[in-house]
Amino acid sequence: MSSQPNNAVTCQQLAPALVPSVESTDWMPGGPLPAALETGHKSIDFEHRQLLACMIAARSICDDFRGYRNCSGCIEARRALCENELVRLLGDLLSFILDHFKTEEEIMRDSLLIMVDRDLCEAHMEDHAAISSKIQQIVASLESHNTVNLLRELDGLLGRWINHHVALHDMMLMRWVERDDSALKTPLSP
Ligand SMILES: [Fe+2]
Ligand SMILES: [Fe+2]
Repeated sequence: MSSQPNNAVTCQQLAPALVPSVESTDWMPGGPLPAALETGHKSIDFEHRQLLACMIAARSICDDFRGYRNCSGCIEARRALCENELVRLLGDLLSFILDHFKTEEEIMRDSLLIMVDRDLCEAHMEDHAAISSKIQQIVASLESHNTVNLLRELDGLLGRWINHHVALHDMMLMRWVERDDSALKTPLSP
């Protein structure tokens, strides 16, 4: 038996396929970022697409992540594979978070937003800390009969991260950076 399920994917493998070729306004895991979530900052938008890729990877681990109450109906080998996939995905996600949140927090300082609106930046950083802590809680709850419940929790967290955190905090930060007189404004794409 192979050491990975056939449908196993990592964030890194999926990300390049998610770069949008057409404009889309519908939010759909695996699709391009909807216009409402495009910050206009190239590297941050690329990383947010990786987040969508993580969501797809998480959904691909279990045959029915919404339907199964727990993992007791699956054979032990399958449970082990699913748990390994989730562990791998959480590892990817934790290293993604380290870089991504650090980059955004550096942008807050370099763009001087932290001097102009400290409360806004602190709320943004607190939300980063809350997301990291929730992922660490999922890691601490790993157990092979419980993988499907953790997948549901992770899916909810990633959905809220994309729909609320990116749409609110990241968009406000990037609007500040991309304003006309900002020293950090990224050049327009060709
Ligand atoms: Fe953020
Ligand atoms: Fe972000």
